[in-house]
Parts: sequence; structure tokens; C-alpha cells
Amino acid sequence: MAIRNQSLGEFIIENQSEFQYSSGELSRLINSIRLAAKVVNHEVNKAGLVDILGAAGDTNIQGEDQQKLDVYANEIFIKTLTNREIVCGIASEEEDDFISIKGRNEKNDNKYVVLMDPLDGSSNIDVNVSVGTIFSIYRRVTPSGTPVTIDDFLQPGNLQVAAGYIVYGTSTMIVYSTGHGVNGFTLNPAIGTYYLSHPNMKFPEKGSIYSVNEGNYVHFPLGIKNYIKYCQEEEEDRPYTSRYIGSLVSDFHRNLIKGGIYIYPNTSKDPNGKLRLLYECNPIAYIAKQAGGRSSNGFINILDIKPTELHQRVPFICGNKSMVDKAEEFMQNA
Ligand code: AHG
Ligand code: MN
Ligand code: MN
Repeated sequence: MAIRNQSLGEFIIENQSEFQYSSGELSRLINSIRLAAKVVNHEVNKAGLVDILGAAGDTNIQGEDQQKLDVYANEIFIKTLTNREIVCGIASEEEDDFISIKGRNEKNDNKYVVLMDPLDGSSNIDVNVSVGTIFSIYRRVTPSGTPVTIDDFLQPGNLQVAAGYIVYGTSTMIVYSTGHGVNGFTLNPAIGTYYLSHPNMKFPEKGSIYSVNEGNYVHFPLGIKNYIKYCQEEEEDRPYTSRYIGSLVSDFHRNLIKGGIYIYPNTSKDPNGKLRLLYECNPIAYIAKQAGGRSSNGFINILDIKPTELHQRVPFICGNKSMVDKAEEFMQNA
């Protein structure tokens, strides 16, 4: 049988008609993200070679050290999307406020806003461990032709029209969904083309990996402590295997392929957890749902949460449906 190597470019063109409001705008947007990801990938790959490692000497709005590559990735994604006049607004983990973008002819007549974590897991760069980019796309809710407002960004995750991530790992992959399943494309760095390597990605029926920073155990809520004990019990298909990279994109990507659950709970130190609803949890939750999994804050679906602020944090439990159901049960019974 002849194997057809379908490139991401071909895939986008062939599947354009399944987009709800097909005008080619969403296709062009995904294309821009694909391009920016290639540039960031190039920079991430040579991180060990050039003087780009270490902190940039600045902190972002959440008081965290920004790594040089955080700043670089943020700039590349914003510049690519701005120069191509492809969106009407951008919100980024690395920006204090959202950015309003004028479309062609100085009008804000583009339909989509993008929210992103330009470099996820950035503390892993110095030690040559995988990092990623996460993106989330919504249709604006305010009238076309006017500047975007905060309302365009504070939409619940179940209104996303597309979401995805790039993992800069042993190979670089882009994994995304426009609401018709999840597809993964692997970059051939020699020619700069992504090929469809993981069509129609689904969580395996059963998962056996749990991913959580157990160093924070004493600060976890009782429900999560009890769930971790459950994962470690010798029963049926347990104990599960523990795997934690400390890079959400990489941890989620492995669990999607092998079957598992990712947990970043609220702690006594961080009552809302650490991860950001708009830049990290919603897009990953959208992919998880499209792949047959689910996400919760312990009580309700992540995708149902109505955001109240741009940099909002939420406790995050995400992965195989049956595992998330179980963790939720422990939370609710604690
Ligand atoms: P970012 O690099 O964008 O700030 O995100 C880091 C996040 C996430 O990727 C990861 O899962 C989590 O922080 C790890 O946190 P801990 O080191 O507290 O486990
Ligand atoms: Mn992140
Ligand atoms: Mn980040």
C-alpha cells in the first residue's frame, strides 16, 4: 500500500470546509502559528549553543522570572500574528494586558482572538528537557470593526473554535483541533515541513500514569492526597506509574498517547493552583475532550468555567475520562 505523506499545509487546505464559518481566516491563522512555531523551534534547538540561556532579568505580571526564550517566543508569535493581520486581538501569559490589533485597512475586521502560553515549561530549557507552546482561539463577541475588549477574551473554554500545542521535544510536533478530533503533525527539520504523523488522536481506553508534583503533597487538598494513595494501591491494574516532567505540554502529550492523568491541584500555598485557565487549562482541556478525555477543577468541568480575569488560575485535573472521574469522586467525597 502506498503511504501518503500529508503535510500540515495540505491538511489545512483539504479540511478548510469543515470549519463552521469558513472564510479561510482560521486556516490562515493556523498557518501563521505553524510558521511562528518553526522559528521558535529553531531557537529552542540551539538554546544550548548560544548565549540565550538564563533569565532575561525581568519578571512577568505574575512575578515569575521570564526566561530569554519566553520573551523571544512571545515576540515571535505576536509579531507573526500582527504582521499578517490575521487576528483582532492577542492575550499572552507574558503580557500584562491583551493586545488589540488593527486588521487590513486599519479596521478591526478580523474575527478571531488568540490566547497563548508562548513557552510552557520554560524552566526546563536549561536542562535540555522538552518545552511547548499552547494556543487557544475564539471568535470575538464584540462587533467587527471595533477594538476588541476584555469580553472577547473572557469566554468559557467550551466556546473555543480551535486550540492546540506545539511540543519542542525529541521531535517537534504540532497537535491541534478545530472541533473535529485531534491531529498531530511532526516537523521534518531538514525541509521545514510538518507531516501528519498522529491522525485522529484518542486517549487509550485505560490509563495507568499519574502526573503530579508530589513534592507539594503536604499542601494538597485531602481529596487529591486520597486519590494519590488510590493510584499507589496494589489493586486490579494499580499501582499506576508516576511520571512528571514539569512541563504541562510534555506531560499532557505523553499521557494522551499512553493514557494517564495530569493533576495540578490547589494547595495551601496557592489556593487556585498554579496553571492559568485561559492560556494553559482551557486549550489543553479542549484537546483532551476532542481526544475522548476530560478535565475538571475537582468539581466542575474546566471548559464550563466562566473566566473573570485574564491571568486567572485554576486547579487542573486532566486526562483519561475514567481517571478524571475517579479523581473528581475523591475530591467531592473528601
Ligand atoms: P510556564 O513555564 O509557562 O510558567 O509553565 C510551567 C507550568 C507547567 O508547564 C508545569 O506543568 C508546571 O508549571 C510545573 O510546576 P511545578 O514546578 O510547580 O511542578
Ligand atoms: Mn505554562
Ligand atoms: Mn510560559
